[in-house]
Amino acid sequence: MTHSLETALQQIYGSGAAAQMPRYQQARQAFTDHFGDAGELLIFRAPGRVNLIGEHTDYNHGFVLPAALDKDVLLFVRPRADDQINLVNLENEFALVSFTLSEAIPSAPVGDWSNYARGAAQTVTQQLGQRPPGFDGLVVSAAPQGIPRGAGLSSSSALTVVVAVALAHLADWQPLPVQLAHLCSDAEWYVGTRGGIMDQFAALLGRRDHALFLDCRPDAQGNYTYEAIPLPTTHRLLVVDSGVHHRNVRGEFNQRVAACRAGVGLLRRDFPGITHLRDVQDVAWEILEPLLPETITATALQEQGIDLGEIPGLDAQAGLRVRACCRHVWTENDRVRLAMDALRLGETKELGRLMNEAHTSARDDYRISCPELEVLIESANQVEGVAGARLTGAGWGGCIIALVDKGAVEAFQTHVQERYKQATGREASIFPCQAGPGAGLVGR
Ligand code: GLA
Repeated sequence: MTHSLETALQQIYGSGAAAQMPRYQQARQAFTDHFGDAGELLIFRAPGRVNLIGEHTDYNHGFVLPAALDKDVLLFVRPRADDQINLVNLENEFALVSFTLSEAIPSAPVGDWSNYARGAAQTVTQQLGQRPPGFDGLVVSAAPQGIPRGAGLSSSSALTVVVAVALAHLADWQPLPVQLAHLCSDAEWYVGTRGGIMDQFAALLGRRDHALFLDCRPDAQGNYTYEAIPLPTTHRLLVVDSGVHHRNVRGEFNQRVAACRAGVGLLRRDFPGITHLRDVQDVAWEILEPLLPETITATALQEQGIDLGEIPGLDAQAGLRVRACCRHVWTENDRVRLAMDALRLGETKELGRLMNEAHTSARDDYRISCPELEVLIESANQVEGVAGARLTGAGWGGCIIALVDKGAVEAFQTHVQERYKQATGREASIFPCQAGPGAGLVGR
């Protein structure tokens, strides 16, 4: 490993840099075993993220407060002279994939890991208006230094982002990080989830030891407002992985998206011109609530002239819980603004209170929790020194995040692990949120 790579790892991982060396060395070796050792290698990375607060607000153009993790996906790349991409993954369960760059790349079967890379490649090619150079690539994603998969920490967005960053580099294109985040978010629509911009934004704009506030509504010029805010120093943010990894949640996720869009369609009668729930954020909830039915189907909306747009897999006969879903989004946006102030002022008690409220709203109004997450939340709140805890990410499994007084970290770990094992028979894995920098070229 070169001296400059050592320095780069220091800048990215801080005190964790030495522990990363073997991972990088092993990956380099695996790359040459697979593709030979002729030609220069470029190394890119993109981090996972954890969301402090602001769940399911991004696709409603609302507010989010994520932090990029020091857990990341690496992509070792050697440019090719043609427009072919060959990708292998250090994790054996993933097969080698090859595809040709174009503005319409055929997708692999649903659930295939390469679809994230295909989506990124297609979207970058469309954006450039020409094919970027192809490459041979090795993906390194295994936890614990990689991002646990299916845990709601955005491992798939990190893969999309790292491929887009590599292709932009090879094409000598230098988009603004926010522009690239937007592009990567569009790229994920290739896979079929109608998510927002938060994950890609955090992966690209992350900063060491900081959370990132983002207003997901672009201005007329397409610019976004965002701000890096230092993480608390008196408390630690601990991430607890339930080990319940969400599968097949796309249908549930898209149904929530539909409920929000239904809300917009209905509210447009009284608030003409609105396009997202965020546009009524400054209207009191008491005014909005009576305008929204508790449930309504897409078919009934259609009859009233309200079209929800394309939403993959949506059951037109399923009752959309419009009122409760919109209430979650409206109140959550409010909480993010308050949480940002609390974080800035070091008011951890208030931040914890907001996290607890956010959890209740996610569980009861948006209905994205599950029994295992409830065990984790309950046991977390039993520990003295815990300011607050909430599920984080899309939901239906994955992780919780807890704000824990530094002096209570050990007690937290022991208690939560014990209780979780007792109640579910599963192991919870706990790690601190070490916020790291955003995606980019690590070295050669
Ligand atoms: C997923 C999506 C994000 C966001 C979260 C929920 O991670 O990819 O865009 O909607 O769920 O906050």
